[in-house]
Amino acid sequence: MPGLFYFKRYAESRTAHPCLIGGCRDREEKPGAERRIIMEITGSISEVRAQVKEWRKQGLTVGLVPTMGYLHEGHKSLIDRAVAENDRVVVSDFVNPIQFGVNEDLATYPRDIEADKRLCGEAGADLIFHPEAEEMYAPDFSTYVETEKVSKGLCGRTRPTHFRGVCTVVCKLFHIVMPDRAYFGQKDAQQLAVIRRMVRDLDMDIQIVGCPIIREADGLAKSSRNTYLNKEERKAALVLSRAVFYGESMIKNGERDAEAVLEAMRGLIEAEPLARIDYVEMVDADSIQPLARAAGRVLVAVAVYIGRTRLIDNFILEV
Ligand code: PAF
Repeated sequence: MPGLFYFKRYAESRTAHPCLIGGCRDREEKPGAERRIIMEITGSISEVRAQVKEWRKQGLTVGLVPTMGYLHEGHKSLIDRAVAENDRVVVSDFVNPIQFGVNEDLATYPRDIEADKRLCGEAGADLIFHPEAEEMYAPDFSTYVETEKVSKGLCGRTRPTHFRGVCTVVCKLFHIVMPDRAYFGQKDAQQLAVIRRMVRDLDMDIQIVGCPIIREADGLAKSSRNTYLNKEERKAALVLSRAVFYGESMIKNGERDAEAVLEAMRGLIEAEPLARIDYVEMVDADSIQPLARAAGRVLVAVAVYIGRTRLIDNFILEV
């Protein structure tokens, strides 16, 4: 895979570890002008490790943005934050097979590595880790990381092996990159809670940074799976954000009874003929245990099928 060149305003010159594929170190940089820097891409675990070791030797901090690719503005907001808070940023771009259930969309999950490279380059990432599944999982791979309880409700009910797959791959990515900080979107609020729990329970010395949901202009939460929606479904998908905004306003206006909030949200969603509710729930945002009344750090989360596409959305409020 070739190295990539992007233009970016940059105050210092950067060097990449020489082992990385396609790196070029003979570029000319004009003082005060937009300077050419290198963003590298590799599928090799040992090359990522070598590069990070090099950065560490220089005393640089490292941020990691784990993704499954098909990057959009939501991912870009994570990379932007990572670039702002770390000296170097690694974006992993890997559709992780073990977090998909048997009847889920692994085969059709959207992929576009060329577009991903462009977005990462423009956002100022330093390295994309884009491994093949064989690089991540030996044929006799047999070690998994599983969080109990926190991964069992909400999405864990419909997708019983999902968070085991997420935790395992994130744990592996943490061991490969050894970042100071790792960045995750709040759109996957349960995933964020599960990863925080794993990091706490297993004493991983990594700061987990949760970043706000990024929405389309009409309110739909950005998601790679939005591309599955046809025109009619795209319109119908707005029931998720409409329900989320409505529920949020009810709590902000003083409603505390979970069932009252959830009933109103369900009513809005059920009025849309293309929508089928998977769940609409109020839980504690850290433990993911159900709440009867809004108190503490409250997560109200929805998962709704629009046609065959399952979408999620949520809000978190401190009450
Ligand atoms: O949120 C995602 O895109 C994935 O679940 C993650 C965290 C990259 C693990 O594969």
